[in-house]
Amino acid sequence: MLEKTKVAVLVSGGGTNLQAIIDAEKSGIIKDGEVVLVVSSSRKAYALQRAEKNGIKAVYAKNEEEILAALEEAGAELIVLAGFLKILSKDFIRKYENRIINIHPSLIPSFCGKGAYGLHVHEMALDYGVKVTGATVHYVNEIPDGGKIIAQKAVEIQDGDTPEILQKRVMEQAEWILLPRAVQQISAEIRKGKENDNN
Ligand code: GRF
Repeated sequence: MLEKTKVAVLVSGGGTNLQAIIDAEKSGIIKDGEVVLVVSSSRKAYALQRAEKNGIKAVYAKNEEEILAALEEAGAELIVLAGFLKILSKDFIRKYENRIINIHPSLIPSFCGKGAYGLHVHEMALDYGVKVTGATVHYVNEIPDGGKIIAQKAVEIQDGDTPEILQKRVMEQAEWILLPRAVQQISAEIRKGKENDNN
């Protein structure tokens, strides 16, 4: 089999989704991809420490140009946005067409789009009064949270939920399960595609 698909993870914060991917590689859930690079838009992101603790190259990038340089140097083939808070330019997205995926903490098309990120997404769900929310993994295109949906998982909202309690449940019951599975699925597709090109 050809070498594993090279995965780069873009982060901005705590990195719990990155951690889920790292753990899934260790447990064998992800067997066709390997995280070769973590790039953060924030110097202080704990996600950088998670990467370093696991021997993964971890860099802070102050702009898109630096992100692109790091991706090229690493030979990244799949880019995972995991709590990444910057909006990528059209040029960037075109350069990695159908090779960028994102995890969003709601069931798209609910509670998504411009300004809907992090805890605010859960505040929107609670304010609206929905009984079910969840998470979505989707391809990234030029429309914020607008790309083709890859996977979704529903999570029940419970009486007394605060945004923080709900965020934790959505992470535990949906995000940290969906994202590693999607990384494995797409890494395998890319790896097989390279295999076929070689035959
Ligand atoms: C969380 O709100 C998560 O739902 C979203 O980004 C935020 C931070 O995630 N994907 P992480 O802990 O940095 O992975």
